[in-house]
Amino acid sequence: MTSNHKHTHAQWGSRLGFILAAVGSAVGLGNIWKFPYMLGKSGGSAFMFTYLACIVLIGLPILSAEWLIGRRGQRNPIDAMKTVAQQEGRSKAWAIIGASGTLGGYLILSFYSVIGGWSMNYIVKAGSGLFSGMTGEQTGAVFTSMLANPTGLLIWHTIFMAVTIFIVAAGVTGGLERGSKIMMPLLAAFLGVLVIYGANTGHFGEALSFLFKPDWGAINADVLLSALGHAFFTLSLGMGIMLAYGSYLGKEVNLLRSAAIVVILDTAIAVLAGLAIFPIVFANGLDTEAGPGLVFVTLPIAFGNMSGGTVLGLIFFLLLSFAALTSSISLLESSVEFLEERTRMNRVGSTLVAGIVVWLLGVASALSFNVWSDVKIMDLNIFDLLDVFTSKFTLPLSGFAIVVFMGWFMKQDSIRDELRLGGAFKIWQFIYRVIAPVGVIIVFVQQLIG
Ligand code: PHE
Repeated sequence: MTSNHKHTHAQWGSRLGFILAAVGSAVGLGNIWKFPYMLGKSGGSAFMFTYLACIVLIGLPILSAEWLIGRRGQRNPIDAMKTVAQQEGRSKAWAIIGASGTLGGYLILSFYSVIGGWSMNYIVKAGSGLFSGMTGEQTGAVFTSMLANPTGLLIWHTIFMAVTIFIVAAGVTGGLERGSKIMMPLLAAFLGVLVIYGANTGHFGEALSFLFKPDWGAINADVLLSALGHAFFTLSLGMGIMLAYGSYLGKEVNLLRSAAIVVILDTAIAVLAGLAIFPIVFANGLDTEAGPGLVFVTLPIAFGNMSGGTVLGLIFFLLLSFAALTSSISLLESSVEFLEERTRMNRVGSTLVAGIVVWLLGVASALSFNVWSDVKIMDLNIFDLLDVFTSKFTLPLSGFAIVVFMGWFMKQDSIRDELRLGGAFKIWQFIYRVIAPVGVIIVFVQQLIG
């Protein structure tokens, strides 16, 4: 992103710059770390299919709604919501959506940074040849001992957060986003290599049927809510980020087409990650329900046992850390933008304040893997609590409010012009007026009564 937000609210230099930033925010640990372990926990194909449905029927409409509102609001998320609500003759209270999004952003970044730290730590571990010849049991032990060491976790969390703060404070996020042009395709290529490795040496057939053989009976309320929450998480929705990106968007950009590009790329990377990981899981008799450690236990087995694996592993975790950084800067930036436009603090000051608050919260997450593992609220440790509260609660609720606002509280004529759909507008309108909001409600109610 370019220019000084305080005076003139700039626009993207090019459509490509905008897509790169949006993809950079969307593609990250959510695709490669979180998606596979959620697949594993929620019965594979049951999760896969509900997730795909959520992405298309709920994620895509909400992504375009956020851009549309942001483009009209031309400000940080909170003020954008307020401006657009006023333009439409509605209450300023709609700004609460922007505020809950910004809060969600702080909470997510705090634990995201801890996992980003794991990824950076694994650059060193993989590059040192540590994984050479290792079995699943051994890579599992490496992971467990990393978690057991609070100092190590805190150091890596601090490094990850420091790099994020530095990039945002220096205002060079655009440079990093442009780097995605090379890094994202490379990451996809690496995942492709891992899929081929899995197809040759792992239990590929078993993985395929785990991921794609329909098992409708396994879809329950919890799977639904997890899939819905993940659709929001992976597309960076419900947090004001996409609203903020929309505010830099020129009128000529086709919102739906751009949203489809982001959704397809994001989903493709996630599915590739699943295809890379599960053949290894089954070949090594690992537990599909291993949870957050799944990627960090499985992929090192592959790198430890393929030729050139030390270098490939090093590059892979570099790429993963890069993808995590392009997401974390988007998370931090949306909170910074608000502080910068609303307070006397400049960019560096705003970034430091927001960054330090997030870092402190992250310390609690890091410690919840070891010294504070017994600190539980509603049976969840701090890390799980933050994850569950944001993915299953704040994100879906803010997303819900955004589509309801667009569907029922904005003048539909101007939306029709902006979406440029011609005759297909009616179908699309039905999706964002009825399907997306009702989908979110059903999932919530199911969860309450289930
Ligand atoms: N979408 C990012 C990912 O999948 C995570 C993220 C969530 C980024 C929320 C920004 C906002 O890794």
